[in-house]
Amino acid sequence: MQGSALIVGIDSQIGGALAEDLGAHGLSIWATSRRGSGSRTAFLDLAAGFDRWTPPRVNYAFLCAGVASIETCEREPATTRRVNVEAQITVAECLVKQGTHVVFLSTNMVFDGSRPLMTADEKVCPTSAYGAQKAEAERRLMLLGAGVTSLRLTKVLSSKQQLLCGWASTLRHEEPIQPFCDVVLAPVSVRQVTEALRTIARTSATGIFQLSGDVDVSYAELAYELADKLGRSRHLVQPVRGAMRYLIPPPAHTTLDTDGIRRLGLRVPSTHETIDDIAREVATACR
Ligand SMILES: NC(=O)c1ccc[n+]([C@@H]2O[C@H](COP(=O)([O-])OP(=O)(O)OC[C@H]3O[C@@H](n4cnc5c(N)ncnc54)[C@H](OP(=O)(O)O)[C@@H]3O)[C@@H](O)[C@H]2O)c1
Repeated sequence: MQGSALIVGIDSQIGGALAEDLGAHGLSIWATSRRGSGSRTAFLDLAAGFDRWTPPRVNYAFLCAGVASIETCEREPATTRRVNVEAQITVAECLVKQGTHVVFLSTNMVFDGSRPLMTADEKVCPTSAYGAQKAEAERRLMLLGAGVTSLRLTKVLSSKQQLLCGWASTLRHEEPIQPFCDVVLAPVSVRQVTEALRTIARTSATGIFQLSGDVDVSYAELAYELADKLGRSRHLVQPVRGAMRYLIPPPAHTTLDTDGIRRLGLRVPSTHETIDDIAREVATACR
């Protein structure tokens, strides 16, 4: 691939992985961070003003910075809305004006989770502040013109995540873990996400796309898979109910229909393929 890309939020899980992926595929990478600046990284705090920020002239921009915690959005709706909605629109407006293809990262939480496999064109119905912010940002971004894409993601897993590494370390010591049996996910891996974002850029696809596993599984099922990969007894996995501990009841269904992204030529792995891969990676990576 040729050209240049801006990663807004290079320190995020997805932004960091995307920068590596796009760099390896020949794109020249620019970035923003709220931790500092460098030759190709500009300081940008989305909660502050934009006076000192001039967007670089790039072909693609990926909006990866934001408050991704459902709890924080619920507790601080006004400040998080400034970052997750207003700032995203301001940044996107600057970029679209100069002809950059802008890609926003959204979520299955724009739906209420009452039904599985929601299609991209179904009416949004969020039940959390986080979901409502993402739905509003998406709607307003789509009004900016032709050069905007939103990719809705279900839970993104990587072998670097604390929860999974913590489970691996506990299981290795032959100690029990207590994953939730009543909270579900239809995970995608961070690698699948970067591949989907690269495909969107390469094909200049605009509009709303979705990336998701095909079925929901509980966190307990993920933990059993990890115990298997580590060669530990499944008896060490002791599922508990945890949904009532959430500030917002977790959705009964998280799956999204992926027809749109498949039509771009992307292969979307099944949930079971993804948890098999992630469990294997965690078993190798987390010592
Ligand atoms: N991960 C998932 O399962 C998932 C699922 C669906 C959608 N998404 C969306 O995908 C995007 C990236 O997710 P992620 O998991 O990679 O995120 P992440 O690892 O939680 O990182 C979020 C990033 O946003 C930055 N940030 C927060 N407030 C900021 C502000 N005021 N100004 C500038 N930067 C700010 C953080 O900076 P610091 O590093 O300095 O704290 C952090 O690097 C988010 O929009 C998220 O909502 C994620």
